[in-house]
Amino acid sequence: MSRELSPPDRAKFLAARQALTFVEDGMRLGLGTGSTAAWFHRLLAERIHREGLNVIGVPTSSRTRDLCNALGVPLTTLDDAGWLDLTIDGADELDESLTLIKGGGGALLLEKIVATASDRMLVIADGAKRVKTLGAFPLPVEIVPFGWKTTKAIVEEALADLDVDGRNSTLRLHNSEPFVTDEGHFIIDLHLGRIGDATALAHLLTDIPGVVETGLFIGIAQAAVIGEPGGTVIRM
Ligand code: 5RP
Repeated sequence: MSRELSPPDRAKFLAARQALTFVEDGMRLGLGTGSTAAWFHRLLAERIHREGLNVIGVPTSSRTRDLCNALGVPLTTLDDAGWLDLTIDGADELDESLTLIKGGGGALLLEKIVATASDRMLVIADGAKRVKTLGAFPLPVEIVPFGWKTTKAIVEEALADLDVDGRNSTLRLHNSEPFVTDEGHFIIDLHLGRIGDATALAHLLTDIPGVVETGLFIGIAQAAVIGEPGGTVIRM
């Protein structure tokens, strides 16, 4: 199957296939969102059906829930699972310390809740996601719809105190309407260019009323499998 794929898709497929070796019988899994995570879900379903692998997953979005239902991956809720053994999810950017930018697919809030409720988070990504300095990818920030224009203006103003290159933000749209997350919120994407201090930025943003969560994952991921068209690299 992997021979027919474009180089980026092959890299994602290889990362997902390698991640499957971290999965053990009986595990409760956090199931990420995005195209790399979708490769993992397809491969996981194959193992479930072929080998009788006994796992249960908590999806991080309605999209992942629908895909896993179609694939026959058994699902539960986070409240029923209580705690998870392993979350496998993609990323938009990751640096050497495994700080991530996530939320390109709009699922950052549930992704962060699920990853935080897991013993381990394993990131799966193609090599293009690996960066020296975070921030070229616009940082998604989930906000409540009430007063969103004011919240957006306060966020932009607050960025003046931080070590970043850009301070503009844009409301994420879908079919010319505000994109609405699974929890009914909006997303603004911050065009920062470069993030000097991710921890300071995360604290500053989550202190603003109206901000629900940011796509910065700091100290959450323990390992990453990076796919390259020629193979995979595991970073622990
Ligand atoms: C969704 C995410 C995704 O993990 C991230 O956008 C990476 O997606 P892809 O694997 O399609 O490149 O955070 O909210």
